Amino acid sequence: MDMKEIKKDFPILDQSIRGHRLVYLDSAATTQKPKIVIEAIQRYYETMNANIHRGVYHLSEISTLAYEETRKKVAAFLGAKDARSIVFTRNATEAINLVAQSWGGKHVGEGDEILLTEMEHHSNIVPWQLLAQKKGAILKYVSVQSNGTLDLNSIDSLISERTKIFAFTHVSNVLGTMNPVKALVEKAHERGVLVLVDGAQGAAHLPVDVSDLGCDFYAFSAHKMLGPTGVGGLYGKLDLLEEMPPMLGGGEMILEVHKEYSTWKSSPEKFEAGTPNIADVIAFSKAIDYLKKITMEVVHQHEKELTQYALARLMELEDFTLYGLKDAQHRAGVISFNYANIHPHDLGTLLDHQGIAIRTGHHCAQLLMRTLQVPATARVSFYIYNTKEDVDAFMLALIKAKEYFNRGTRSAR
Ligand SMILES: Cc1ncc(COP(=O)(O)O)c(C=O)c1O
Repeated sequence: MDMKEIKKDFPILDQSIRGHRLVYLDSAATTQKPKIVIEAIQRYYETMNANIHRGVYHLSEISTLAYEETRKKVAAFLGAKDARSIVFTRNATEAINLVAQSWGGKHVGEGDEILLTEMEHHSNIVPWQLLAQKKGAILKYVSVQSNGTLDLNSIDSLISERTKIFAFTHVSNVLGTMNPVKALVEKAHERGVLVLVDGAQGAAHLPVDVSDLGCDFYAFSAHKMLGPTGVGGLYGKLDLLEEMPPMLGGGEMILEVHKEYSTWKSSPEKFEAGTPNIADVIAFSKAIDYLKKITMEVVHQHEKELTQYALARLMELEDFTLYGLKDAQHRAGVISFNYANIHPHDLGTLLDHQGIAIRTGHHCAQLLMRTLQVPATARVSFYIYNTKEDVDAFMLALIKAKEYFNRGTRSAR
């Protein structure tokens, strides 16, 4: 597959920003959308729009069918054996909150422990803090070593009789570290501990087979994998989902409503109260088609090559600080760094003036920033539409930013 051709499928990338070709290097925040996804949203509203699961007329039937077909497609894409184990949510954040509130609300009590890691996105910390505060539970954290990997040797001693769940990210959105999910699941399960994997950066960039990984829950966001915003999902083992109470009550999730109580449907309907984001779920199926055509193996390989190429050039720079593994073989396509004493926000602005979009700040990972002992970093992240030319443009812009910054600080003296 000619990866250079891929860019043409993304209309947004065919534009200039401040007189420069747009180079988008912030796909870990959200990915751009291929034309087929954008067109699917428009087609839905022009030809199919109707509420699902409730109409007996044609439009409602075809919308329902397309919505449920997407569920089957997502299940197959993630290796889930049964489509009923995929619950659509607004995003990965909501999926994690669903597990914390519903499963955690039922199974976590006073003095119980929840194991997290220091490299988690706030989305995989705050929901557990809310649960722990409500229940009097205790949070423990696996620490991050100086090379950007988890201290795996500490896990045995961090798990106790009271540990109920181990929630960790598949791939760090700051360091690009890919965690050994299968081995961690085995370790946790040996001790009777359930596992939630935050797959926001995993499902988008790596081949994922939840059945093979053995995890109990896997959360993901469509917008990070070429799909629309406002759609995400939770894979959960069916027996766990079946015994979990709903998080939200309302229409479509009930079997019967009485004055004092209601009964509800089984999974996934039980967790999808109210009218869902029908158009965007249906358009998400086009994103999955697109990724499947390329294959996740090629997606990962492409990002690895770009990361290797970028890292080799970055490491030659003076005053360059890399966070995380130096070895591109073992990291995903995310590079966090600081450069030449330029504050990341200033660097981001200087690069933006050259058409380069990067992310700066704490990346919703303040615990990790404290471990790294920095308030913020600059971050570039790659996806299938990025090329070596993008890396070259970024490198050139970086060097110019330093020159510009040095000129500015010299004249200020
Ligand atoms: C590792 C990780 N987890 C969770 C999230 C939250 O994703 P969302 O905002 O789509 O819920 C992100 C978003 O950047 C992420 O990188």
